Amino acid sequence: MSGYSVLASYYDRLMTDFDYDGYLKVLDSELKGTEGVDLCCGSGRITIALAKRGKKMTGVDISAEMLGEAAKNSREAGVIPLFVQSDIADFAPPHKLDFATCVCDGLNYVPQKKLAAVFSAVADCLKSGAKFVFDLSSEYKLKKIIGNNVFFEDHDDLTYLWANETFSGGVRMELTFFILGEDGKYTKLTEEHTQYAHKREDVEKALDGKFAFRAFDFATTGEVNAKTVRILWVCERK
Ligand SMILES: C[S@@+](CC[C@H](N)C(=O)[O-])C[C@H]1O[C@@H](n2cnc3c(N)ncnc32)[C@H](O)[C@@H]1O
Repeated sequence: MSGYSVLASYYDRLMTDFDYDGYLKVLDSELKGTEGVDLCCGSGRITIALAKRGKKMTGVDISAEMLGEAAKNSREAGVIPLFVQSDIADFAPPHKLDFATCVCDGLNYVPQKKLAAVFSAVADCLKSGAKFVFDLSSEYKLKKIIGNNVFFEDHDDLTYLWANETFSGGVRMELTFFILGEDGKYTKLTEEHTQYAHKREDVEKALDGKFAFRAFDFATTGEVNAKTVRILWVCERK
């Protein structure tokens, strides 16, 4: 199966190590205006948090299963963002927006050769002066920490294996789930993801002309260095 089908049901439960609160602090200080889009919104954690702050939000994702989780989560949270199933390269709102976000690896799913086109599409969605905040898992993280490595989690009802193999442009990931059914038997399901390891200079070349930008290390909020695992860019539409 392709990415984010089986994983969708378990995504929130398995995402215990991502600092959404820290991310929201950055967004709270950077985002101005009322109307925005959360690209690659997944299960809607950021879309919903911003909607709860009174923002008029659209969440865009390519995975119907992730959007199903987002719809469920937003009902539970008592907010009603608009969720749209689309490739982010094709998303075009009816009018220009005040900000855009793309949180937790969304742009690692975009191949190198499509990155500039995606940034152009995002730029076309935004008013002049609007902020675009996104992050990427660094080349160091993908190739040296995650690549050619296997991770697992073992719960009573779910065992999850995450096996990664590097290639020149990034990492191919095979996810295997053993899911306990009501009959006491486990079902094995698999899906594959490809994440692209973008070089910082390539990202900034692709942003250039459309956005002014600054980058920092998400964990330390300091300078990006050779061992930065997540780089966060705060961009402003020219
Ligand atoms: C790691 S998840 C991040 C989800 C969410 N932003 C979060 O912070 O939890 C990456 C998401 O990107 C979505 N995605 C990947 N490629 C995409 C594309 N080309 N267009 C839209 N969504 C995409 C996946 O379906 C998945 O939901």
